[in-house]
Amino acid sequence: MRRLRFLTGGESHGPRLTAVLEGLPAGLELDEVFINSWLKRRQHGFGRGGRQRIETDEVVVTGGLRNGRTIGGPLVLELENRDWKNWSEIMDPWAIDEEQALSRAVTRPRPGHADYSGGASTDQLEDMRNVLERASARETGARVMAGAVCAQLLARYGIAQRSAVLQLGPHVVSDGPPTWDGLAGVDFDSPLVTPHPDREGDLVEAVRAARTDGDTMGGVVGGVVRGLPPGLGSYAHWDRKLDGRIVQALVSIHSVKAAAVGAGIEVAGCLGSAAHDAIRVVDGRLRRDSNRAGGLEGGVTNGEDLVARAYFKPISTLRKGLPSVDLTTGEAGATAWERSDVTAIGAAPVIVESMLALVLADEMLVKLGGDAIIDTDAAWAALCRRLEPWWRPGAR
Ligand SMILES: Cc1cc2nc3c(=O)[nH]c(=O)nc-3n(C[C@H](O)[C@H](O)[C@H](O)COP(=O)(O)O)c2cc1C
Repeated sequence: MRRLRFLTGGESHGPRLTAVLEGLPAGLELDEVFINSWLKRRQHGFGRGGRQRIETDEVVVTGGLRNGRTIGGPLVLELENRDWKNWSEIMDPWAIDEEQALSRAVTRPRPGHADYSGGASTDQLEDMRNVLERASARETGARVMAGAVCAQLLARYGIAQRSAVLQLGPHVVSDGPPTWDGLAGVDFDSPLVTPHPDREGDLVEAVRAARTDGDTMGGVVGGVVRGLPPGLGSYAHWDRKLDGRIVQALVSIHSVKAAAVGAGIEVAGCLGSAAHDAIRVVDGRLRRDSNRAGGLEGGVTNGEDLVARAYFKPISTLRKGLPSVDLTTGEAGATAWERSDVTAIGAAPVIVESMLALVLADEMLVKLGGDAIIDTDAAWAALCRRLEPWWRPGAR
C-alpha cells in the first residue's frame, strides 16, 4: 500500500480478528450497516461449511471513529469469533490444556493448504494447527471489513463496484471478462451469486454431487469498477503499476492462483488488430469501442471500467481425504477433515471487491492526498476540472 497502511491480526479460532486501516482522511462518514452487509455476503454461498451457521459476523469498531466519522487515528475494526468458546482451552494465548491440544493437533499436512510449507517456514511441523489457524480464510473477514470502508471512500467520488461468480468448477455461467451491464442481474442472496440466478440449479446440483463424493470445487469470480478517473497508478515504476498491484491483491486471497485484468487471457491469442480498444470522441469525451484492456493501460487507469477476474482453486480440505504423511511418525495416511467448505465461491465476490476497493482507495488517496476529507474533496474537484474535456465524473 502506498498511502494507506493495512494490517490484519488474529487466528481462525482465536477470540477475534482485527483489521487496522491507517491513513484515511479525518471526517469521512462511515456506515456500520454497510460494513455488516458486506460481512454477511462473505458468509454466504451454497456449499459452505457448518461454521457459517454458528457465526454471524458484525463489525466492532475499537479505534479511529467517533460519531460515525473517522478522526485521524488508525481505524481499528474487530470481528468476534463466536466459535472461540469451543476452542478457548486449546487456543488460550497464555496456557493451553496440553491433552486437549494434542487431540486437535494437525500432524498430516493437507496437500494444497499451508500446513507443510508454513510449518517448515516457522518450525511448527509437530502441530501445524499454529499455521492453519492463521492461514485460514477466516482472515478474509478482516479484509472485508476494511474493504467495505474503502468502498465507502470510493463511493464518495462516484466510484461503484459489481462482482459475481462466473464459473463454478467446470461449469461456466458467463464466458470471458465480465462487463458492468453483464453483472447487473446479480442477486447476493442467490445460492451461488452468479449473473444468472435462474441458471444456478445445475450449479447447486454440482456442489451437492461434490459434497456427496467428499470432494471440493473452485471457480472464477469477476469484478468491475466503474467511475475511476484516468491517471491512477504509474507507468514508470514496476511496483506502482496498478495492473500489477491489482493482480497481487487478488492472488493474495486464499486459494486464488491466477488473476487477469480485462481480456488479458483471451488477447494473448489474438492479433493486435483484434486485441486493443479503438479510441473515439463521443459527446465530446474519449470513448472506446471495446474494453479489452479492462480499464488499465501502462499500469494506469484510462477512465474505462476496471475489469478483473480471480481464479480460485478447489478447497484443499476434502472429506474423503488426500494422501499425506504423518510427520510425527513418517507413516502414510489420509488427511483429516474438520468442518470445511465444499466450495467457498459464493463468498468470493465480496472478497474480490474488498481487495479491489483497498487498492483503489489507496491509489485515490495517493492521487488526492488530504489529512482532512474536505482537502481530499477539494483535490477531487480540482482533478475533475483538470481532466476536462476528455473525462467527466459519472458521465457514461
Ligand atoms: C472464503 C474462503 C473460504 C475458505 N474455506 C476453506 C475451508 O473451509 N477449508 C479449506 O481447507 N480451505 C478453505 N479455503 C482455502 C484456504 O484458506 C487456502 O487454500 C489456504 O489458506 C492455502 O492458501 P492458498 O490456497 O492460497 O495457497 C477458503 C478460501 C476462501 C477464500
